Amino acid sequence: MGSTAGVGMRMGMDDRERVIGDAVAFVRARTDIQPRAGIVLGSGLGAFADDVEGPVRVPFGEIPGFPDASIAGHAGTLTAGHVSGVPCIVMQGRFHRYEGHDAATTALPARLLVRMGIRVLVLTNAAGGIQRTLQPGDLMLIDDHINLTGANPLIGSVLEGETRFPDMSEPWDRELQRLAEDVAAGEGIPLRRGVYCALHGPSYETRAEVRMLERLGADAVGMSTVPEVLVARAAGVRVLGISLITNPAAGLAASPLDHDEVLEVGRRAADALRRLLRGVLAAGAASA
Ligand code: HPA
Repeated sequence: MGSTAGVGMRMGMDDRERVIGDAVAFVRARTDIQPRAGIVLGSGLGAFADDVEGPVRVPFGEIPGFPDASIAGHAGTLTAGHVSGVPCIVMQGRFHRYEGHDAATTALPARLLVRMGIRVLVLTNAAGGIQRTLQPGDLMLIDDHINLTGANPLIGSVLEGETRFPDMSEPWDRELQRLAEDVAAGEGIPLRRGVYCALHGPSYETRAEVRMLERLGADAVGMSTVPEVLVARAAGVRVLGISLITNPAAGLAASPLDHDEVLEVGRRAADALRRLLRGVLAAGAASA
């Protein structure tokens, strides 16, 4: 657990401002980096953190208010440094509702990045493919989302720099999507596009749930990412989202779902994602 007394699985409403302030002060004491981009790496996608030049690494457990990331495949490390010449902070690992964390804790790493002054937040995740043409190993640009987690980190008093009722007509930045598509075309990386639906987990979906999600308009399903885009948009930060499709969603393939398979597909596709992220940053995603 983090070192701030009284902060654990459940963060009291009034604690949130203090917790974020303490976390920002702690990270600023460890690095001079003024990040322009924040990058959150999903399950099995942590390899991109090795691309950070001049890295300063801070385990999540050392940051006041941050619980230790516990799930396999999530190292739980903040890495500050440069990627493609852009000052960045990379979050390897995140906190999920299914680990018992409340909505405020799931949004804590993203809020820390926002408070550190990022212009652009890049969110990545592993997801199950619902759209029939999506294959394991495909990268999918998130062009919209559906929040079926039943949670929202913006509930409660409005935090500094956030707005009460953020517009969600276009949470995923169009210009950043175009930039990502240009970079992907140049690198020869196939890039799909679709709607990401977030569920609570930790159980994978039933076949009936997957049929329901398909009818609701979801192309991919996962258990993260939505809390982070909500807090970023509440603060006016532009967001790019990329899902790695690790498996066909339940019932769309012959075999049952297995977390090790999710991680293995992540490792194999990590190189394409790395090139895409480096290219997007080099192309000036965070310079506007
Ligand atoms: N469902 C939910 N989350 C996931 C999946 C899935 O099929 N694959 C990877 N994360």
